[in-house]
Amino acid sequence: MSLLDEIRGLHERAAAELEAVATGDALEAWRIKYLGMKGAVRAVMDRLKEVPKAEKPAIGKAANAMKMALQAAFDARAGRVARSAGARGQGELVDVTLPGRRPQIGHLHVLAQTINEICDIFGRMGFTIAYGPEVEDERHNFQALNIPIEHPARDELDNFYIDEQTMLRSQTSTVQIRVMEAQQPPVRIIAPGRVYRPDTVDATHSFMFQQVEGLYVDEGVTMADLKSCLDQFCKTYFGPEVATRFRPGFFPFTEPSGEVDMLFHNPDGSTRWIELGGCGMVHPNVLAGVGYDSEKYTGYAFGLGIERMVMRKHGIADIRLLFENDVRFLHQF
Ligand code: DAH
Repeated sequence: MSLLDEIRGLHERAAAELEAVATGDALEAWRIKYLGMKGAVRAVMDRLKEVPKAEKPAIGKAANAMKMALQAAFDARAGRVARSAGARGQGELVDVTLPGRRPQIGHLHVLAQTINEICDIFGRMGFTIAYGPEVEDERHNFQALNIPIEHPARDELDNFYIDEQTMLRSQTSTVQIRVMEAQQPPVRIIAPGRVYRPDTVDATHSFMFQQVEGLYVDEGVTMADLKSCLDQFCKTYFGPEVATRFRPGFFPFTEPSGEVDMLFHNPDGSTRWIELGGCGMVHPNVLAGVGYDSEKYTGYAFGLGIERMVMRKHGIADIRLLFENDVRFLHQF
């Protein structure tokens, strides 16, 4: 029998056997038998060197064609076997055309995402980010903020005191003082961070929450700057359709003081004013207290509640969801 006949015979045999292959094991056995390193195809190829020169091109071509045809038939069969095997375990074959399995990796908590976004927006407005300690002394939390000894905000029942002089900060306004003590004007910072108050936990209250403080002190800073800054922030964070309004308020460290509200558009089309936080022009006593010339410099400050913004933006009804670390909740953001 000529080598050419052998090639034809091998091709037919291999193809017929492949037709009968139904499992991954059988397929692998077939591959080893025919296409493997010591397989029948390779054996035929090795014998090409014995062929007389004149016949070499024709036989070589036939051998190559057979090899490629068997390889293609094998690939097609492998795809079919993998598909019909279905569940893993019985079909040992891996279908390399399937999309990969995405590894489960975590992502930033929705609050951390929001703080990053807030820092980004204020950063573009020229603010730098400042941080202060969460365990604070009463001077930074109260005294330097023009909050006198007899002020009700200092009440033992409204604060987490560690001792008479030390406490968990109840507001991020402390960072205003720390920054001004450390540098001369102009100052333009935001200070995001956790604050603590012994509030009873319910859907809208927590003993720990986050604020973002803002402070801008320079020559000639006015209330118009404050209003445009907060308005711009709200429009950037919530959307251009959002309006802001300022109501008179009282805080010992600002004069005049205000509350800033935002007109929020509910998904059903209705609107509602939502309080975002407090603000005002930095009290001259505060500026003088850190050694600034309060005749030369003016400034504005604000403090916004971060959870409130997150809840509004994402339609979250209960603040506790933000702290429970239930991944079914967190995965949504
Ligand atoms: N610290 C205030 C609070 O926690 C919020 C606040 C009001 C901050 C007015 C300010 C401000 O900077 O100017 O209720």
